[in-house]
Amino acid sequence: MRAPSLSALAALLLGALSGAAWATPRITVEGMFSGGRSPIPVGPAPAGVSSTDAASCATCHAEIAAEWRGSLHASAWTDEVFQAAYAVERMAFCRNCHAPGATTASPRGVAADDGVSCAICHVRAEHVLGTGRSPSAPHPMMAVRAMSGSRFCAGCHQFNFPGDTGRGGARFDTAEPMQDTWAEWLDSAAAADDVQCQGCHMPWVDDASGRHRSHRFPGGRDLSLLRSAVDVAASARLEGDHAVVTVTLTPRALGHSFPTGDLFRRVEVTAAWESDPASTVRVGLAREFRNVPERSPHGGITFVRRQSADTRLAAAGLGAPRVLTLTLPGNPPGGRVRWSLDHLLMPTPLAASQGVGVARNRLVVSDGTIVPPQGAPSP
Ligand code: HEC
Ligand code: HEC
Ligand code: HEC
Ligand code: HEC
Ligand code: HEC
Repeated sequence: MRAPSLSALAALLLGALSGAAWATPRITVEGMFSGGRSPIPVGPAPAGVSSTDAASCATCHAEIAAEWRGSLHASAWTDEVFQAAYAVERMAFCRNCHAPGATTASPRGVAADDGVSCAICHVRAEHVLGTGRSPSAPHPMMAVRAMSGSRFCAGCHQFNFPGDTGRGGARFDTAEPMQDTWAEWLDSAAAADDVQCQGCHMPWVDDASGRHRSHRFPGGRDLSLLRSAVDVAASARLEGDHAVVTVTLTPRALGHSFPTGDLFRRVEVTAAWESDPASTVRVGLAREFRNVPERSPHGGITFVRRQSADTRLAAAGLGAPRVLTLTLPGNPPGGRVRWSLDHLLMPTPLAASQGVGVARNRLVVSDGTIVPPQGAPSP
């Protein structure tokens, strides 16, 4: 064990004098999560807390608990979109992040219903981990200041595809990110400005005793967050027997690529003659993959996923417009063009095959109607 630093000793002494319960940090955020390799044991409940279930934290932290209950962290296991995907790939790897408190192949009870629960992020070694704002609490606390930083979130939001060794379900870590959000953030203007994940996804909200960081964790289903990602401008003109529709996307409050997260996330720009929805043309921004043969660490050849293209908006390019051009066949009399920018959880055919309805899968971020002027093509 490392000797405690002078400042840590001083903090300990100060704590003993004032009656506060802040213990010397022994936990690092790098070691807290498993990247899907194993379940996440949180250990026994800290003294003064009846259990590590979210319901027990909720008896005192009601407001935060209500925010969290409505978040995808709470429904990481029960979420129907996750369940539809898990039905296709029933791997311990998936359970270790989506029901990290479960130790059996069929998560149930609290381990299933709480998903990524309070304790998964906040309880280790019979202490509540926090960033050290509260002078005291009825439970022992340990200051892990790095919880305020992106590296903490990376424990689950940055990980590689598992490879199949072909030996009784044994897996190995491939070199290809399945989710790459933290690495995208490292390259972003947000990171350069020291804006962490928490800065955008855990905004401060007022409460009875002052303020706290919201635990609602808005993401790809939050319209106002999605709308803050890009400025959208659209125009159209007629050119003989077709219209040319131009949609310009300018990245705004992006902390990573748009979209990010799950490998199937997708942004689509569509255009159609209003009188004829069947005329729809589209451009998709997404990651694309192909399966390539690779040598398994246990010998033999196995197929692993490799990214073959990435057409998403990169956060490194803040303020740099991306111009998308769509050619819409036809020139109906008095025709009006309907365009839209949509966020999709996954490609439409995949959603259909997994029974995820269109209304669930697709969210309109921005849309409009244009009467294209007759005109010569611009130079
Ligand atoms: C008996 C009431 C009670 C219970 C139960 C309880 N807490 Fe607390 N907790 C408090 C009080 C009071 C504070 C100090 C004031 C504040 O920050 O709300 C606190 C502070 C905290 C802090 C802030 C530490 C910091 O960074 O300053 C965290 C995090 C926390 N609790 C998490 C939890 C979790 C997770 C659980 C469930 C495992 C839990 N608490 C259960 C009452 C409780
Ligand atoms: C995905 C991880 C995660 C989950 C799940 C989570 N928290 Fe937190 N919580 C955090 C982080 C990160 C912070 C510190 C943010 C900061 O200070 O920058 C925090 C801060 C807090 C604080 C300090 C309040 C403040 O902002 O001053 C309390 C209290 C707390 N959490 C309680 C809870 C309770 C209760 C639950 C479950 C109902 C819960 N948390 C679930 C990550 C999580
Ligand atoms: C223990 C693992 C874990 C940790 C730690 C964690 N997350 Fe998550 N997070 C998840 C999982 C799993 C989901 C997806 C749940 C689902 O939709 O099935 C998720 C979902 C989200 C979403 C919603 C995404 C969407 O599509 O709407 C946001 C936003 C988010 N997390 C932000 C954060 C931030 C910010 C942190 C750090 C403070 C963090 N998470 C820490 C596991 C984690
Ligand atoms: C500058 C603000 C900002 C920062 C910093 C930021 N995000 Fe986001 N995040 C957004 C916006 C805006 C969206 C919605 C657009 C999108 O999907 O990219 C979003 C969406 C998401 C989503 C949902 C993705 C989807 O398309 O469904 C996840 C998951 C997420 N962020 C996680 C993180 C994590 C983890 C970090 C830190 C490594 C982080 N974010 C940092 C602004 C931010
Ligand atoms: C290392 C942690 C981790 C592992 C392992 C993991 N996931 Fe996830 N998963 C996440 C996070 C974080 C998100 C949130 C990103 C987002 O919403 O875009 C997520 C989101 C998802 C979503 C989107 C859910 C929604 O509500 O839209 C699906 C589906 C999903 N995961 C399926 C799986 C499957 C199937 C496996 C196993 C093959 C798996 N995940 C393994 C962390 C993980």
